Amino acid sequence: MDNQVRRAVYPGSFDPPTLGHLDIIQRAAQLFDELIVAIAVNSQKQPLFSLEERAEMLRECCTHLPNVRVATLEGLLVRFAQQAGACAIVRGLRAVSDFEYEFQMATMNRQLAPEVDTCFLMTHQQFAFLSSSMVKEVARLGGAVDAFVPPNVAHRLRQRFAPETAGNFHP
Ligand code: COA
Repeated sequence: MDNQVRRAVYPGSFDPPTLGHLDIIQRAAQLFDELIVAIAVNSQKQPLFSLEERAEMLRECCTHLPNVRVATLEGLLVRFAQQAGACAIVRGLRAVSDFEYEFQMATMNRQLAPEVDTCFLMTHQQFAFLSSSMVKEVARLGGAVDAFVPPNVAHRLRQRFAPETAGNFHP
């Protein structure tokens, strides 16, 4: 591992990225020298957006963060972290209900790669109720999602669910 650079990986499905994810990305980017936002395959989920679409959305959201890069991850998270020379995995915790799942994943990841620690950031309370599934459901049913996702993501959701109202996106 490169001891000079404190590099961390923030993995997730990001289907789509929300303001809650962006909050964690911005805060983790201040804690580490480099942050790799890694779009992972969660075998339990059927994604709405392709890995490449999710990567594009995240890159558009992170242009103001020079130490953040976006990558896709198809195998084991810890292997990706090791190959990237990362010392930590960052995860957001929204509520107590997240804890058991996160604890299981962090414990498994520690067994697989003890040198890569998991670091939890408390999700901002404003986003504690948020999830990508809920955002997709609201968008699918024609509700406004602008308060929950960055503008480029809201545009993509409109393009997907209500293309006649989407218009053009100007950042
Ligand atoms: N604010 C608001 N919502 C948030 C949030 C935040 N800060 N952080 C997470 N969420 C929401 C997400 O939108 C997501 O909602 P959804 O379930 O409706 O899609 C949910 O919380 C959790 O999603 P996410 O953080 O994207 O994680 P995940 O459970 O989909 O994926 C991986 C977990 C990708 C990290 C895990 O599957 C993985 O590591 N995969 C790689 C393969 C591997 O190594 N497996 C072994 C793991 S031990």
